[in-house]
Amino acid sequence: MHKPIPIDEEIILDPKRYIVSETDEKGKITFANDYFIEVSGYSLDELIGKPHSIVRHPDMPKVVFKLLWETISQGKNINAVVKNLAKDGRYYWIFTEFETRKDTDTGEVIGYHAARKSISKHVLEIIADLYAKLLEIEKKEGVEASEKFLIKFLKEKGDDVEFANIMEEIHKFY
Ligand SMILES: Cc1cc2nc3c(=O)[nH]c(=O)nc-3n(C[C@H](O)[C@H](O)[C@H](O)COP(=O)(O)O)c2cc1C
Repeated sequence: MHKPIPIDEEIILDPKRYIVSETDEKGKITFANDYFIEVSGYSLDELIGKPHSIVRHPDMPKVVFKLLWETISQGKNINAVVKNLAKDGRYYWIFTEFETRKDTDTGEVIGYHAARKSISKHVLEIIADLYAKLLEIEKKEGVEASEKFLIKFLKEKGDDVEFANIMEEIHKFY
C-alpha cells in the first residue's frame, strides 16, 4: 500500500531550529544543514548543485524573489517571509535572513547564505494576504504590475518604507 501524498498540508516547524543553506554566486546550493534536509524531504545529494527553486512554492509571488536577487547581488543583506514546498507536497512558512558571502581579501561576492526560522500566526496573517494579492496581480498582468502594487503598498506605509523595512518590522514581532 502506498501512503497518500499529503498535498497542501503544513509542516509545523520547531521554533528553536534554523533551516540553513548556502549557495555559490550563481545560487547553486553548496550546503544544507540537517534540518533543511529533514523538513524539505530531499537528501543532501539531491540538493547540492541545484537552485533553491527546488523548494519554490507556487503560491510565492515572483516579485519577492526579484527583490531578493536585486538586493543580495549588490552585496546587501535582506530578510523575507517565504513559503516553501517540501518534496512530498507539504508546505512550510519561514522567516529567512539572506546574507551575502564575500571574499575577505577582495570583497567580491562569492555566494549567499540563508537562515530560516518558523514564523508566528500573527506575522503570517499580514504577509499571506499581501502575497496572495501580489500573486493574483502577477497571474493577470505580470510581475511589473505586482511590483507597482508593492511599491504603492509600501508608499502608503510611509515615505522611505522599503520591502526590507516591512520584513524588519515583522521580525520584531517574534
Ligand atoms: C541563499 C539563498 C537561499 C534561498 N532560499 C530559497 C528558499 O528557501 N525558497 C525559495 O523558494 N527560494 C529561495 N531562494 C531563491 C531562489 O534562488 C529562486 O530565486 C526562487 O526559488 C524563485 O525561483 P526562480 O528564480 O527560478 O523563479 C534562495 C536564494 C538564495 C541565494
